[in-house]
Amino acid sequence: MTALSTSLTRRLGIRLPILAGGLMWLSDADYVSAVARAGGLGFVTAASFPDDADLIAEIARARRLCGALPFGVNVSMLPKLVPGEKTEDIFRLIADQGVTVIETSGRNPEPYMRLLKDLGLTVIHKVPAVRYALKAERVGVDMVTIVGAECGGHPGLDMVGSFVNTAMAGEALRIPFLIGGGVGHGSQLVAALAMGASGVVLGTHLLVAEELNAHPDYKTAIANATERDTALTMQSVRNTVRTLANETTRAVAEMEAQTPDITIADLMPLVSGKIGRAAYQTGDVSRGLLSAGHALGLTRTIAPMAEIFARLEAEAATALARLNGQTERVGERA
Ligand SMILES: Cc1cc2nc3c(=O)[nH]c(=O)nc-3n(C[C@H](O)[C@H](O)[C@H](O)COP(=O)(O)O)c2cc1C
Repeated sequence: MTALSTSLTRRLGIRLPILAGGLMWLSDADYVSAVARAGGLGFVTAASFPDDADLIAEIARARRLCGALPFGVNVSMLPKLVPGEKTEDIFRLIADQGVTVIETSGRNPEPYMRLLKDLGLTVIHKVPAVRYALKAERVGVDMVTIVGAECGGHPGLDMVGSFVNTAMAGEALRIPFLIGGGVGHGSQLVAALAMGASGVVLGTHLLVAEELNAHPDYKTAIANATERDTALTMQSVRNTVRTLANETTRAVAEMEAQTPDITIADLMPLVSGKIGRAAYQTGDVSRGLLSAGHALGLTRTIAPMAEIFARLEAEAATALARLNGQTERVGERA
C-alpha cells in the first residue's frame, strides 16, 4: 500500500512502517524473523543475552531465519544492565556481526554517537517524551521513537499520552520519528502517519504472537486482559514501569507507600527480572513485573505474527478509505 510507504520503510527496506520494539527475555531470533516475514522490522534484545557468545549466536540465528529480510538489535543503555565500557563493546559486537540498525533506549546516547556513526549503524533512539526527542535529534540520532504514557515497560516520568506526543513531535522535530505506546490498531498507524510520524513501534500488541517464545498461559492471560489491567509502580525510585496488575504490583505499591526513602535495592527481591523471566516460562502471571500497556484493550487473540500484521494492514486500509470518503464513519449509518 503506497500510502504506508515512508522514510522509515524506504530507509530500512521494509514493507510496512511497523517496528517491533525490543522485549526483555522475549524478542529473539524466532520473534524478529516472524516480524520480518510479516513486513516489519524487529529488534533482538541484547540484554537478554549477557554472554557475548550467546548474543553472537542469536544474531547468527536471526540472520539465518530472516534470510534477506532485515532485523535489528535493541540496546537498553540502563547503567545496571550494561555497565560502563560494556555498552561500547556491545555496539562493536553488533556491527561486527553485520547488523546495520539498532534501537537504543535508557539514557542519552550522546557519548556513543561518534562510535555509532563510525560503525555505520542506523540509530533509532527511543525516548519517553518529546523534550528528550529534541535532545536526541541535536546529538545526531537518525530517527527517534517517542513512547507515550500508555506503553508497556518504561513510560518515563512525564506521563504524556501518545496522541499529544505525536502532534507535538510533528511540529517540533526535523528527523523522522516513530510513535509507540498504546498502538494496537491499524487506524492508529494511519493517524500517526497523518500527524507526521514515519511509523509506529509495537510491544504489547505482539505479545500474543504464536512465534513468541513464552508459555501459552502467559499469552492467554495477555489476550484476556483489558486496557484496565495494568499497574504503574516504581514511581518512588524514578523508574516508573507499566506492567500487568498482579500480586507483585500490589506488593510493590504497598512497600512504596510504606517505606520512606525507598531505593531500588529495597524493591529488588520483588522486582528482579528473574521472576519475570520465570513467568514467561511457566505461564504463572501472578508474580513478577510483566511489562504490558494499554494496547491490551486492542489485543484479543493468540495468532500468528503474519495474521496480526495482516489485520493491522487491513485496519489501516479501512482508515484510509474513511479519510477518502469511501467508507462511512462510525455513527453515519443513518
Ligand atoms: C514485555 C515487554 C518487554 C520490554 N522490554 C524492553 C527492553 O528490554 N528494552 C526496551 O528498550 N524496551 C522494552 N520494551 C518496550 C517496547 O520495546 C516498546 O517500546 C513498547 O512496548 C511500546 O509500547 P506498547 O507496549 O504500548 O506497544 C518492552 C515492552 C514489553 C511489553
